[in-house]
Amino acid sequence: MAMFNKANINKFQQLDTPFYYYDMEVLRQTLDACRDASAKHGFHVHYAMKANFNPKVLDMIQTFGFGADCVSGNEVRAAIDRGFDKGKIVFAGVGKSDKEINLALDTDIFCFNVESVQELHIINELAGAKGKKAKVAIRINPNVDAHTHHFITTGLDENKFGINIWQLPDVATALRECNNLQFLGIHFHIGSQITDLEVYKNLCTRINEMQDWFEDHGFPVKVLNAGGGLGVDYYNPDNDIADFESYFQVFKNFLNVKPGQEVHFELGRALVAQSASLISRVLYVKNGLKKNFLILDAGMTELIRPMLYQAYHQIENLSQESGVKGQEKTQDSEFKTQNLKYDVVGPICESTDCFQKDVDLPESFRGDLIAIRTAGAYGEVMASGYNLRDRVGSVYSE
Ligand code: LLP
Repeated sequence: MAMFNKANINKFQQLDTPFYYYDMEVLRQTLDACRDASAKHGFHVHYAMKANFNPKVLDMIQTFGFGADCVSGNEVRAAIDRGFDKGKIVFAGVGKSDKEINLALDTDIFCFNVESVQELHIINELAGAKGKKAKVAIRINPNVDAHTHHFITTGLDENKFGINIWQLPDVATALRECNNLQFLGIHFHIGSQITDLEVYKNLCTRINEMQDWFEDHGFPVKVLNAGGGLGVDYYNPDNDIADFESYFQVFKNFLNVKPGQEVHFELGRALVAQSASLISRVLYVKNGLKKNFLILDAGMTELIRPMLYQAYHQIENLSQESGVKGQEKTQDSEFKTQNLKYDVVGPICESTDCFQKDVDLPESFRGDLIAIRTAGAYGEVMASGYNLRDRVGSVYSE
């Protein structure tokens, strides 16, 4: 599906930039594809809210019946406020505060994904004080390499997440001691933007070993939670929908699911990434001897992924590519087709505030509208107020 046409580009011309543009139809079709592909196998999907908690986005996701994967008390609260079923909320995070644990206990969420032995004891204590039993899954660090950027790898021994395999005997002891905990199962999340499905095969092998370990030690495993991480195609933003079919099929083929067990997932990026673009305007064009710079009115304060993870996002000049021209070109009827190379940068006082170097674009002018694609995941939610910038806006296709 193409996200832009003359009508919406004309509309953007009237609006203040920068803003996130959400194509709700792309979102709907993506959610639909995920629901169909997971339902076929009876798999449960929790949407990883950290990827995007824009209220309109949450409202739509909730209508598809997905649960919520939360990593803070505020996310638990937002999930409830937006209508997610509390019985489908999982709560992960290496540093859950007492206040957040208490909120989740009061909310009667589906399950805590517990990341350390000490945390097991704290949840046990806080649940006991309320006369409740907390349902827990053990987040195991499986030491499986996700083959993704090391900043978004989570499942290796050197990462802070989860409980390492050699600590499992301590987990078993704690579970036997803690009367206010109900052991539900095991949880994994090895990283994000994973495009090599072989990685998930390796994860399945590890999940199978781990469930055997727990069952052998007298803990029946009801829930197998494989986390999230399915990647999207940042190089082809109009290739909207991630390959949910192949992703779930790997688990169907390689996970040893026993009778009565449930298989859960926590997908974030793959559900929302392609549904939004960051729309910005060219403020200035600087032509240097060695470099041309396009200076945008959006920067790392609106989308930090390129600066933080060297992430690629496709950049398009909507005004020139569509023939709907920017402010400075409205007098000029001649249409230029010459392409130039630009470093596309933001206005923030940091040298790293660069979206991409040497981008091949049509000759660009002050006022041109620029789209930075595939920005629906970890975009708006990671915006900051650095340089006392305005909060980035959002505009919806419907
Ligand atoms: N479950 C857990 C426990 C997680 O930590 C995450 C993401 C997910 C599920 C969802 O993963 P996804 O399906 O979205 O890959 N800010 C980074 C990504 C950080 C991911 C953090 N954890 C980025 O912009 O690439």
